[in-house]
Amino acid sequence: MSDTRSDDAALEHRLEQMLEIDSFPPPEAFRERALWSDPAIYEEAAADPVAWWTARAKELLDWDVEPSEGLDDSDPPFYRWFADGRVNASAQCLDRHVAAGLGDRVAYHWRGEEGERRDVTYAELLDSTQRFANALRALGVGKGDVVGIYLPMIPEVAVAMLACARIGAIHNVVFGGFSAESVRERMEFSQARALVTVDGARRKGRTAPVKRQVDEHLGDLPALETIVVVRATGVECPMTAGRDVFYEEVCAAADPDCPAEPMEAEHPLFILYTSGSTAKPKGILHTTGGYLTGVTTTHRYVFDLRPETDVWWCAADVGWITGHSYIVYGPLSNGATSVMWEGAPDHPHQGIWWEIVQDHGVSILYAAPTAIRTFIRWGAEIPGRYDLTSLRLLGSVGEPINPKAWLWYHEVIGGGRCPILDTWWQTETGAIMITPLPGITATKPGSATTPFPGIAADVVEERSGEPVAEGQGLLVLERPWPSMLRTLYKEDERFLETYFSRFGRGRYLVGDAARRDADGHLWVIGRIDDVVNVSGHRLSTAEVESAIVAHEKVAEAAVIGQSDPDTGQAICAFVTLTGDTEPSEELEAAVREEVATRIGKFARPKRIVWAEDLPKTRSGKIMRRLLRDIAEGRALGDVTTLRDPGVMAELEAQIAAEGEGED
Ligand code: WTA
Repeated sequence: MSDTRSDDAALEHRLEQMLEIDSFPPPEAFRERALWSDPAIYEEAAADPVAWWTARAKELLDWDVEPSEGLDDSDPPFYRWFADGRVNASAQCLDRHVAAGLGDRVAYHWRGEEGERRDVTYAELLDSTQRFANALRALGVGKGDVVGIYLPMIPEVAVAMLACARIGAIHNVVFGGFSAESVRERMEFSQARALVTVDGARRKGRTAPVKRQVDEHLGDLPALETIVVVRATGVECPMTAGRDVFYEEVCAAADPDCPAEPMEAEHPLFILYTSGSTAKPKGILHTTGGYLTGVTTTHRYVFDLRPETDVWWCAADVGWITGHSYIVYGPLSNGATSVMWEGAPDHPHQGIWWEIVQDHGVSILYAAPTAIRTFIRWGAEIPGRYDLTSLRLLGSVGEPINPKAWLWYHEVIGGGRCPILDTWWQTETGAIMITPLPGITATKPGSATTPFPGIAADVVEERSGEPVAEGQGLLVLERPWPSMLRTLYKEDERFLETYFSRFGRGRYLVGDAARRDADGHLWVIGRIDDVVNVSGHRLSTAEVESAIVAHEKVAEAAVIGQSDPDTGQAICAFVTLTGDTEPSEELEAAVREEVATRIGKFARPKRIVWAEDLPKTRSGKIMRRLLRDIAEGRALGDVTTLRDPGVMAELEAQIAAEGEGED
């Protein structure tokens, strides 16, 4: 037996030394057989990006009607791509592979929390999708209607999305970690006609009564006519006659044939709500042809994908954009075989990920830095028990990856032989924007390196908008790309205001700060707006604040993102109470519970600081900058604009008392 402690120390020492290494060129063996290994691809794409993307659209998709034009930029930033083309997303993901004789290929190796295994082939997925598409039609759902999807990580989630796409309904998936109250809000904003959910969802050996919770919070939504319930756990659930139906029953009764309807390229494919700087989530709208082009191209070439031999695992949740693009549309459009894992990384044991990699021969793993940091904490000895030699590429997404975690991933999981792809993108961009290419780019731990071919990113000076040659500034995208959001659902003005007011309509404002190094490589630092990234989950401080103040004893709340070694950022809430209410542990628990109910458990504040008052400017604006300073234990920045400078002294005393309480 090896001595774990000295192994750990040796690893630590090795990683420390590796921090000195400047860059990691692609391994020769990898480069030789990579799909793309010639850097000329960047120049080729830059010379005529629209023509280049159009060539990708034709290379990788089978259009019912090929587009005659690439980009229509007559009304920026309301761009249209491939506008006269016609294509159906579900046919791209399913029918064309089955027609090519690949019906028996596994689309998903599904692994359930309790050890279940279910392989779903492309032919089976097509069959289920056709049935459910017909069932939705029979329930009155048609082209352009919005369908909510609130499901855990089970194959039916992909079926539901694809069935919508097949008939031109617009899906609106809500991450299973959001509360039923969030579901209600998103159904209301989007005027959803139907909702697909589940009787119960399993998490680490427990079952949450999802349908019951949905019923308790849904209230009266006049537009919502139908709720389809997947019986996943068999847990008792209330059903309302005339509104609720079981998925299995409507599918069994449905006609098995549902020919895919060719959609206009700009037909909406889905809405996905994400957090912005106000409490109201933004309904990011993606359309069909451009989105499919973006995800199919990036999935194929960023990950050097060989659909015949690779086993792909994107360990995100389908309820976020990463899951939409790289669990459902990208991999299926490319005819890949994926792993879909229902559960948490530590159930039934802390080695479950590596057991899955070993069992299915996973060759490409795409995960979030927060997961990697968790595995680091659990120790290298755990993955060390499994055979991980099937891995050939490793991806990272969702938040900045610190160089130490990058190196650990590279060494411990990748055995030093797998290129690491730190991919930067957003719900809005639809697909990966800044990333190394594994056969071309020399990577640097912590940098997402350079824009994907055809993408133009820049770092600009905050005020003037002038490009920053070297150093820090705001990240912007300089020209339209096929998979970009088309608008915020039914909020065109807010779309313009959020992304195209600061630097005009020709430049997309990302909302992240970034640094450009001497080699021109990009290092994304984090958000510049009031968005917090907790374990790669995007949250708005305003959203959390409004949940906290919903508690009757709370007068005011200010929420900030505080750096956290495990989750990247953590929610820290400064809370003032009404009247003579005294802080207590019960109250703290109640405030957390309020956030869990209104948003979801993952949004609960890690730290609550009771405050007498909050630092405000003379015009009454809360100065979050000072709260961030104080929470991180930094010297306070400029306090001269405060209405009452005494507030900060009180807060400092409060923080000091908190520290003593911990000792
Ligand atoms: C952050 C997730 C650094 C960033 C795909 C962005 C990253 C936000 C990276 C989008 C990365 C994502 N390095 N930061 N590789 N990837 N981010 O919409 O702040 O959930 O703006 O999309 O995550 O989060 P979203």
